Amino acid sequence: MARDTYPAVDYVRRHLRVGWWSLLGFLILGFVLEVLHGFKTGLYLDVSNETRRLMWTLAHAHGALLGLVHVLYALCLRLLPGVAAGSQRLVSSSLIGASVLLPGGFFLGGVGFYAGDPGLGILAAPVGATLLIIAVYLIARAAASPDSRPEPPGGEGRRGKKR
Ligand code: HEM
Repeated sequence: MARDTYPAVDYVRRHLRVGWWSLLGFLILGFVLEVLHGFKTGLYLDVSNETRRLMWTLAHAHGALLGLVHVLYALCLRLLPGVAAGSQRLVSSSLIGASVLLPGGFFLGGVGFYAGDPGLGILAAPVGATLLIIAVYLIARAAASPDSRPEPPGGEGRRGKKR
Protein backbone atom coordinates (compact mmCIF):
# COMPACT_ATOMS: atom_id res chain seq x y z
CA MET A 1 0.00 0.00 0.00
CA ALA A 2 2.83 2.34 0.88
CA ARG A 3 4.00 2.00 -2.71
CA ASP A 4 0.62 3.18 -3.99
CA THR A 5 0.47 6.12 -1.57
CA TYR A 6 3.99 7.32 -2.40
CA PRO A 7 4.62 5.74 -5.82
CA ALA A 8 8.18 5.54 -7.11
CA VAL A 9 6.85 6.63 -10.50
CA ASP A 10 5.52 10.18 -10.75
CA TYR A 11 2.21 9.31 -12.42
CA VAL A 12 0.99 12.91 -12.46
CA ARG A 13 3.99 14.04 -14.46
CA ARG A 14 3.88 10.94 -16.68
CA HIS A 15 0.25 11.50 -17.69
CA LEU A 16 0.65 15.24 -18.14
CA ARG A 17 3.55 14.52 -20.47
CA VAL A 18 1.86 11.70 -22.40
CA GLY A 19 -1.40 13.68 -22.57
CA TRP A 20 -0.05 16.96 -23.89
CA TRP A 21 2.34 15.30 -26.36
CA SER A 22 -0.29 12.96 -27.74
CA LEU A 23 -2.79 15.84 -27.95
CA LEU A 24 -0.19 17.75 -29.96
CA GLY A 25 0.46 14.74 -32.23
CA PHE A 26 -3.22 14.13 -32.97
CA LEU A 27 -3.98 17.81 -33.48
CA ILE A 28 -1.18 17.81 -36.06
CA LEU A 29 -2.90 14.80 -37.67
CA GLY A 30 -6.10 16.91 -37.75
CA PHE A 31 -4.13 19.68 -39.41
CA VAL A 32 -2.79 17.20 -42.00
CA LEU A 33 -6.38 16.06 -42.71
CA GLU A 34 -7.34 19.71 -43.15
CA VAL A 35 -4.50 20.12 -45.69
CA LEU A 36 -5.65 16.97 -47.55
CA HIS A 37 -9.08 18.63 -47.80
CA GLY A 38 -7.52 21.91 -48.89
CA PHE A 39 -5.63 20.27 -51.76
CA LYS A 40 -8.58 17.98 -52.59
CA THR A 41 -6.27 15.00 -52.35
CA GLY A 42 -7.71 11.89 -54.00
CA LEU A 43 -6.04 9.37 -51.72
CA TYR A 44 -8.13 10.84 -48.90
CA LEU A 45 -11.24 12.30 -50.55
CA ASP A 46 -12.08 10.00 -53.49
CA VAL A 47 -15.27 8.02 -52.91
CA SER A 48 -13.24 4.83 -53.41
CA ASN A 49 -11.09 5.89 -50.41
CA GLU A 50 -14.01 6.57 -48.07
CA THR A 51 -12.79 3.85 -45.67
CA ARG A 52 -9.42 5.57 -45.30
CA ARG A 53 -11.08 8.92 -44.60
CA LEU A 54 -13.29 7.39 -41.93
CA MET A 55 -10.38 5.53 -40.30
CA TRP A 56 -8.04 8.54 -40.24
CA THR A 57 -10.79 10.82 -38.93
CA LEU A 58 -11.47 8.30 -36.17
CA ALA A 59 -7.73 8.10 -35.38
CA HIS A 60 -7.54 11.89 -35.11
CA ALA A 61 -10.67 12.24 -32.96
CA HIS A 62 -9.91 9.34 -30.58
CA GLY A 63 -6.23 10.26 -30.24
CA ALA A 64 -7.03 13.90 -29.40
CA LEU A 65 -9.74 12.94 -26.90
CA LEU A 66 -7.50 10.33 -25.25
CA GLY A 67 -4.80 12.99 -24.87
CA LEU A 68 -7.31 15.04 -22.88
CA VAL A 69 -8.19 11.95 -20.81
CA HIS A 70 -4.52 11.63 -19.75
CA VAL A 71 -4.45 15.27 -18.64
CA LEU A 72 -7.73 14.80 -16.76
CA TYR A 73 -6.39 11.68 -15.03
CA ALA A 74 -3.24 13.56 -13.96
CA LEU A 75 -5.38 16.34 -12.48
CA CYS A 76 -7.57 13.79 -10.66
CA LEU A 77 -4.46 12.15 -9.18
CA ARG A 78 -3.36 15.52 -7.84
CA LEU A 79 -6.75 16.68 -6.58
CA LEU A 80 -8.50 13.53 -5.36
CA PRO A 81 -6.59 11.34 -2.90
CA GLY A 82 -8.99 8.40 -3.42
CA VAL A 83 -8.17 8.24 -7.12
CA ALA A 84 -4.44 8.31 -6.32
CA ALA A 85 -4.91 5.45 -3.83
CA GLY A 86 -6.33 3.17 -6.55
CA SER A 87 -4.30 0.79 -8.70
CA GLN A 88 -2.30 3.50 -10.42
CA ARG A 89 0.13 1.16 -12.13
CA LEU A 90 -2.58 -0.80 -13.94
CA VAL A 91 -4.61 2.31 -14.76
CA SER A 92 -1.53 4.10 -16.06
CA SER A 93 -0.34 1.30 -18.34
CA SER A 94 -3.89 0.62 -19.59
CA LEU A 95 -4.43 4.28 -20.46
CA ILE A 96 -1.10 4.49 -22.28
CA GLY A 97 -1.80 1.20 -24.10
CA ALA A 98 -5.23 2.53 -25.13
CA SER A 99 -3.68 5.74 -26.45
CA VAL A 100 -1.36 3.75 -28.69
CA LEU A 101 -3.64 0.92 -29.82
CA LEU A 102 -7.02 2.65 -30.30
CA PRO A 103 -6.04 5.56 -32.57
CA GLY A 104 -3.06 3.57 -33.91
CA GLY A 105 -5.39 0.75 -34.97
CA PHE A 106 -7.72 3.18 -36.72
CA PHE A 107 -4.82 4.85 -38.47
CA LEU A 108 -3.29 1.58 -39.68
CA GLY A 109 -6.73 0.36 -40.72
CA GLY A 110 -6.82 3.28 -43.15
CA VAL A 111 -3.32 2.85 -44.56
CA GLY A 112 -4.16 -0.34 -46.44
CA PHE A 113 -7.79 -1.43 -46.75
CA TYR A 114 -10.02 -3.74 -48.78
CA ALA A 115 -12.91 -1.78 -50.34
CA GLY A 116 -15.31 -1.17 -47.44
CA ASP A 117 -13.21 -3.08 -44.90
CA PRO A 118 -10.31 -1.52 -43.00
CA GLY A 119 -6.87 -3.14 -43.08
CA LEU A 120 -5.69 -5.67 -40.48
CA GLY A 121 -4.27 -2.89 -38.30
CA ILE A 122 -7.84 -2.26 -37.14
CA LEU A 123 -7.49 -5.38 -34.95
CA ALA A 124 -5.48 -3.24 -32.50
CA ALA A 125 -8.45 -0.91 -31.96
CA PRO A 126 -10.68 -3.29 -29.93
CA VAL A 127 -7.68 -4.22 -27.76
CA GLY A 128 -7.12 -0.51 -27.09
CA ALA A 129 -10.83 -0.03 -26.41
CA THR A 130 -10.76 -2.87 -23.85
CA LEU A 131 -7.76 -1.31 -22.07
CA LEU A 132 -9.57 2.02 -21.98
CA ILE A 133 -12.69 0.45 -20.49
CA ILE A 134 -10.58 -1.28 -17.81
CA ALA A 135 -8.79 1.97 -16.92
CA VAL A 136 -12.00 4.01 -16.77
CA TYR A 137 -13.72 1.34 -14.65
CA LEU A 138 -10.82 1.40 -12.14
CA ILE A 139 -10.81 5.20 -12.04
CA ALA A 140 -14.60 5.36 -11.60
CA ARG A 141 -14.41 2.81 -8.78
CA ALA A 142 -11.62 4.70 -7.02
CA ALA A 143 -13.44 8.02 -7.51
CA ALA A 144 -16.53 6.60 -5.82
CA SER A 145 -14.59 5.71 -2.66
CA PRO A 146 -15.16 7.99 0.37
CA ASP A 147 -11.48 8.98 0.25
CA SER A 148 -11.93 10.58 -3.15
CA ARG A 149 -13.24 13.86 -1.70
CA PRO A 150 -10.71 16.66 -2.11
CA GLU A 151 -8.53 17.56 0.86
CA PRO A 152 -10.00 20.56 2.73
CA PRO A 153 -8.05 23.73 1.88
CA GLY A 154 -5.31 24.72 4.37
CA GLY A 155 -4.88 22.58 7.45
CA GLU A 156 -4.53 18.82 7.84
CA GLY A 157 -6.33 16.51 5.48
CA ARG A 158 -8.89 13.99 6.69
CA ARG A 159 -6.14 11.39 6.66
CA GLY A 160 -4.29 13.26 9.38
CA LYS A 161 -7.30 13.19 11.72
CA LYS A 162 -8.52 10.35 13.89
CA ARG A 163 -11.88 8.95 12.86
C1 HEM B 1 -9.21 18.47 -28.83
C2 HEM B 1 -9.23 18.82 -30.11
C3 HEM B 1 -10.00 18.09 -31.18
C4 HEM B 1 -10.92 17.10 -31.08
C5 HEM B 1 -11.47 16.43 -29.83
C6 HEM B 1 -11.36 16.79 -32.44
C7 HEM B 1 -12.32 15.85 -32.75
C8 HEM B 1 -12.80 15.62 -34.01
C9 HEM B 1 -13.93 14.77 -34.34
C10 HEM B 1 -14.83 14.04 -33.34
C11 HEM B 1 -14.06 14.77 -35.69
C12 HEM B 1 -15.10 13.98 -36.52
C13 HEM B 1 -16.24 14.92 -36.88
C14 HEM B 1 -17.22 14.21 -37.81
O1 HEM B 1 -16.81 13.47 -38.71
O2 HEM B 1 -18.44 14.46 -37.67
C15 HEM B 1 -13.02 15.61 -36.22
C16 HEM B 1 -12.84 15.83 -37.57
C17 HEM B 1 -11.87 16.65 -38.07
N1 HEM B 1 -10.94 17.39 -37.38
FE1 HEM B 1 -10.75 17.45 -35.35
N2 HEM B 1 -10.68 17.59 -33.32
C18 HEM B 1 -9.84 18.40 -32.61
C19 HEM B 1 -8.98 19.36 -33.12
C20 HEM B 1 -8.71 19.54 -34.47
C21 HEM B 1 -7.73 20.46 -35.02
C22 HEM B 1 -6.87 21.42 -34.20
C23 HEM B 1 -7.76 20.30 -36.38
C24 HEM B 1 -6.98 20.99 -37.47
C25 HEM B 1 -6.00 21.79 -37.32
C26 HEM B 1 -8.76 19.31 -36.70
C27 HEM B 1 -9.10 18.89 -37.97
C28 HEM B 1 -10.13 18.05 -38.27
C29 HEM B 1 -10.55 17.71 -39.63
C30 HEM B 1 -9.92 18.21 -40.94
C31 HEM B 1 -11.65 16.85 -39.51
C32 HEM B 1 -12.50 16.26 -40.64
C33 HEM B 1 -11.88 15.01 -41.22
C34 HEM B 1 -12.73 14.54 -42.37
O3 HEM B 1 -13.95 14.37 -42.23
O4 HEM B 1 -12.17 14.33 -43.44
N3 HEM B 1 -9.31 18.87 -35.51
N4 HEM B 1 -12.26 16.11 -35.19
